[in-house]
Amino acid sequence: MTEPDHRHDPARILLVDDEEHVRRVLELMLGRQGYAITTAGGGTEALEKFAAEVFDLVILDLRMPDLDGISVLERMRAAEPDQTVVMITAYASVDTALAAMKQGAFDYIGKPFKEEEILLVVEKALKHGHVLADNRRLRCEVQARHDFGSIIGRSPAMERIFNVLRKVADTKATVLITGESGTGKELVARAIHYNSRRRDRPFVAVNCAAIPATLIESELFGAAKGAYTGADRARPGLFEEAGGSSLFLDEIGELPLEVQAKLLRALQEGEIKRVGETTPRRVDIRIIAATNKDLAAEAAQGRFREDLFYRLNVIGIHLPPLRQRPEDIPLLAAHFLLKAATTHEIKPKKLSPAALAALAQAPLKGNVREMENILEQAMLMSDGPVIEPQDLFALSGDGPEGGVRVVVPPHEDDLKKVLKLVTQKTEEQVIRRVLQDQGGNRTRAAQRLGISRRALITKIQEIGLD
Ligand SMILES: Nc1ncnc2c1ncn2[C@@H]1O[C@H](COP(=O)(O)OP(=O)(O)OP(=O)(O)O)[C@@H](O)[C@H]1O
Ligand SMILES: [Mg+2]
Repeated sequence: MTEPDHRHDPARILLVDDEEHVRRVLELMLGRQGYAITTAGGGTEALEKFAAEVFDLVILDLRMPDLDGISVLERMRAAEPDQTVVMITAYASVDTALAAMKQGAFDYIGKPFKEEEILLVVEKALKHGHVLADNRRLRCEVQARHDFGSIIGRSPAMERIFNVLRKVADTKATVLITGESGTGKELVARAIHYNSRRRDRPFVAVNCAAIPATLIESELFGAAKGAYTGADRARPGLFEEAGGSSLFLDEIGELPLEVQAKLLRALQEGEIKRVGETTPRRVDIRIIAATNKDLAAEAAQGRFREDLFYRLNVIGIHLPPLRQRPEDIPLLAAHFLLKAATTHEIKPKKLSPAALAALAQAPLKGNVREMENILEQAMLMSDGPVIEPQDLFALSGDGPEGGVRVVVPPHEDDLKKVLKLVTQKTEEQVIRRVLQDQGGNRTRAAQRLGISRRALITKIQEIGLD
């Protein structure tokens, strides 16, 4: 279950300087730290070696007779936009060094150099490179497997949803999407539309809660001229406007009972009547509905027509709250950090393990939407390439969803406890689910989890699942 950690290999550094003694001194200093050093005595040689091998870091002299450092830097970054490069320069040419940083160099070291200074810069640069590499890896992972349209998730629950979506998106089946606020209902509705043959038509969405009860019928089905005061001309409704496309009925639970009857008719007969007209009109519409209410319970209470509920719920998709699928949190976090970096044109940042833990144990009543907001703000407000718990904590005021009250303990020890707790919780959920999927068969569950049967039994006892 653990991923291979590239950090256990020595970091590879390409060291480029035309002066042999500089190369030798640096090679010695860095070699002692366990880094794997390749040297080049000039720009051309550097580019050759760069093309042949992958380096975690390039240390590049600015002044070289054959090809100057800036040109080498430019070419390297053109080939590898995320390559981390540190420049070496004489004190006299700090200006050029700054110019190099504008070209994307990570930092510079002035000559003559102090050993601690070099080691510090190298360490920082390597860390930065790892962050970029992690983001890249996550981005690939995000794109490669765990998505449908722009929906991300790797939890068993989301994987099941992706399977359903793959099957039903390109059909005319009515879909009812349920889930708490911010769990991605609208995102799923759009993904269905854009993965259907109707994708070239506009996705028409209507929020049933936002339209006054008296207007909703004409809004949906249209009205004849003079059908009500102010109807000075005949008007088609959304059902006609969305003809040939998909109509998204958001917050369907708020639809007044009289309109529910008409919607049922429209679904059953495939035709609608404009308000004030008697002749029905045929419509070709794919209905996708969403609600954060439990419609079956609403139906039992007489607040929602049971027959309509069944008509809508041909395909029911329930999006679990984020707290029930913690496995999705790291992937979603990486996605939103990249998204914010792109939107705001800032360097990608990464969450520290403690910050990720804090996020995973935050109540997040607003689910994915709330998480996205927190991360976007943290991206903008935090210093440095790594987001720490206090960067999230700083935002724990009253947000639109009532605010996150992430209480992040300030001490390192407490953070470790939190991290452990979250890891345990996640593990517990995964184990529960796999056991369930395997009908309680421990041998098969252990196989799926990639651990021994005995290890699984120990864990089951620890969790108290027996
Ligand atoms: N699985 C996911 N992957 C990527 N982004 C997601 C995911 N789930 C939700 N989001 C994002 O979170 C935000 C909220 O999602 P959405 O608007 O679809 O939620 P909702 O369930 O309709 O919420 P509400 O009930 O409050 O209307 C959107 O920006 C959406 O893109
Ligand atoms: Mg919504």
